[in-house]
Amino acid sequence: MSDPSEISEPVVSAAVAAALAAIAAVNDSAALKTVRAEHTGEASPLARLNALMRSVPGDQKAQAGKLLGQARGAVAQAFAARETAITAAEVAAQLAAETVDVTAAATTWQPGARHPISLLQERVTDVFVGMGWEVAEGPELESEWFNFDALNFDEDHPARAMQDTFFVEPTAAHLVLRTHTSPVQLRALLSRELPVYVVAPGRVFRTDELDATHTPVFHQVEGIAIDEGLTMAHLRGTLDHFVKAMFGEEAKVRLRPNYFPFTEPSAELDLWHPTFKGGARWIEWGGCGMVNANVLRSAGIDPEVYSGFAFGVGVERALMFRNDVKDMRDMIEGDIRFSQQFGMTV
Ligand code: PHE
Repeated sequence: MSDPSEISEPVVSAAVAAALAAIAAVNDSAALKTVRAEHTGEASPLARLNALMRSVPGDQKAQAGKLLGQARGAVAQAFAARETAITAAEVAAQLAAETVDVTAAATTWQPGARHPISLLQERVTDVFVGMGWEVAEGPELESEWFNFDALNFDEDHPARAMQDTFFVEPTAAHLVLRTHTSPVQLRALLSRELPVYVVAPGRVFRTDELDATHTPVFHQVEGIAIDEGLTMAHLRGTLDHFVKAMFGEEAKVRLRPNYFPFTEPSAELDLWHPTFKGGARWIEWGGCGMVNANVLRSAGIDPEVYSGFAFGVGVERALMFRNDVKDMRDMIEGDIRFSQQFGMTV
């Protein structure tokens, strides 16, 4: 056995052999770092042998120095070679793991779809924009005055009662979730110069239970025209054009006398179409009439000079009879598969 505290060929060779074996056995850079500390660090056999150089007699210094120098050089070289190989392997593995095949067909990406209610609502407004009308919007949280009083609703009109209207607390604030978009018409009258030709699409709220034909949140498009000399004939002509633009040349409009506080005379707006599901028939679609003089006065308009008409239709109802949607709940569940059937147009 050679003395490990002496710089001799067998001792140095053994240290080199141990280092080279350890280097060869290492497969990742973290382990290489540990092995490097063990075999070249301060406490390593080679470093300890190096420290012995001081006590080597002068005539042997050169030989011992050469022996140790070669040994340390061989170990350093082995480390460098292993490090290069390990780094290359690690980079290759990372690149392989992060490979993206840009030519692969996407399997998880799904195109979205616009909701048919939005599409249909836009279609309705487009018809009026095409006639030169403007689009107006208003708040969904509306003051009771705009929603009812200014529209000539009596204090005790049933629609004000708790079962139809969502009143918002504190009740002293007199705020409601608007029950129709008619308040937007009034807001339009107050904020615009006459004549006014405006459509108001939007979401409205009533305290109906959700079932196949009712939903507490639905959409309307209402319109109002105020000008000098407007008559019921203008209302009819506008509605005739509207339903033909929406549903085709065969579509027809029928007005049935009815009552609304904000119009006088008022009518139910019925629609006839030969090809809707269920066959050719009249379908009730909305309301209309000549704007009540009291409403004009609420907006500071002289009913002796100006007159006008208004109408309102339900968007969900239109989707039901036009596209044969049988259950309104499908329209609000937000299932993309429902919307996708309609694509980007209705
Ligand atoms: N605002 C009425 C409703 O929601 C519809 C309507 C609008 C009727 C305009 C007449 C004139 O039922």
